[in-house]
Amino acid sequence: MGKYCLRAIVIFVVSWLVRGVLVVLYSRFPRSGVDWREVLRELQSRARIVPVHLLENIIGSMTTYPHPLGVEAFRLFWHANANDPLVFREIAKLESEVVSMLGDLLGGDPARVEGMITSGGSEANVSALYLAREHGYDTVYIPLNVHESVVKAARFLRMNTVRVGLGSNYKISLEDLVEKLEKHGRGVIVATAGSTGLGLVDPIPEVSKIALEYESIVHVDAAYGGFIVPFLKAMGAPLPDIGFTNEAVVSVTIDPHKMGLAPIPAGGLVARSREWFEPLLFDSSYLPMGYQKGLFGTRTGGSIAATWAVIKSLGFDGYLNIVSECMSNAVFLAGFADYSPRLELATRPETPIVCIKPKGVEAKRVLGELWRRKWYPYHCGIVDGVRVVVMPHITREKLQEFAQVLDEVVGSLQASNT
Ligand SMILES: Cc1ncc(COP(=O)(O)O)c(C=O)c1O
Repeated sequence: MGKYCLRAIVIFVVSWLVRGVLVVLYSRFPRSGVDWREVLRELQSRARIVPVHLLENIIGSMTTYPHPLGVEAFRLFWHANANDPLVFREIAKLESEVVSMLGDLLGGDPARVEGMITSGGSEANVSALYLAREHGYDTVYIPLNVHESVVKAARFLRMNTVRVGLGSNYKISLEDLVEKLEKHGRGVIVATAGSTGLGLVDPIPEVSKIALEYESIVHVDAAYGGFIVPFLKAMGAPLPDIGFTNEAVVSVTIDPHKMGLAPIPAGGLVARSREWFEPLLFDSSYLPMGYQKGLFGTRTGGSIAATWAVIKSLGFDGYLNIVSECMSNAVFLAGFADYSPRLELATRPETPIVCIKPKGVEAKRVLGELWRRKWYPYHCGIVDGVRVVVMPHITREKLQEFAQVLDEVVGSLQASNT
């Protein structure tokens, strides 16, 4: 006992000293600068240990290795501040073109839509709910399949929230929605196109019809599915229209830094019209324009230029090919899960997200072992599964390798249970 106690004390003292040294070396604001070559050398060595999508087994994230043209476009415009559309006029023009193109993709009128490139889907969602609130919709209907940013946004904006249940297919329950609208009155309904956990698409046309009956509006969170669903539909997938062809849809989140292949940070918010977007223009007397766009302030022009460049370069057909490849890889992985007696597919993938439930073992245990082996899927909370987001950097060969490792890990954990 004494020996263990002494060892614990030694470990505690040593780690306390090491931490102290690290704090002195790295956490204090330096009094004098260090030679730039040394700074760069250190950063280069620290960058080497950061996983890169293309090389490592990052298979759970909705981000990917960006299109090289997007990176170059970012480099050309990173210094321009999109918060000042007079001085940096070209960035404002590029943003307006990007918003029109996104609006067009989403079934809106390119001449009427308005919007902006944000830091990501979370900012786009909070901005959308802010718009709804400013237009007099104080209650937000939040189905249980939404991304956490929607819950966070409603809380942040102190809106009344009504949770809406899901059907057995893990999509918004239309019956529950009607019941809740009857009880709580008009509001903004959030529907998801490409849910975070399972990649499923809510029945947005039906949600829109119900919204109209109850004098309500719809915000669509297509942060993930915005750059996927239109292409899958064009290939004949039985998916609904997710955008402005649905009358009650007033705004859509669509993220270029996910399947849009732009570098981080690039989220997108598109509103049906300029009038709807207007509350996001704030008086700002010190800026040359006299107003400022969006809930936050300075934004890099790099994200806008990058999004513009990738869309122009790939076009509809380019994205269609990429999404088609991802979807066929996702179907391949789903097929493996169907085939293995140790695994079960949570739902048939509608977009390239595959959620696999290990039989008889908690998904978290499986994930722990996979991460130990340097495979990085995420947890699919809604059904306790292992979630793979098949992004363009993930090849069929990589998925084949992963499927075998997953099967083996689940097999050995099952054996250790017995
Ligand atoms: C459906 C959905 N909405 C919003 C977000 C938030 O996006 P971001 O992380 O870019 O803020 C995500 C992220 O995974 C998402 O899946």
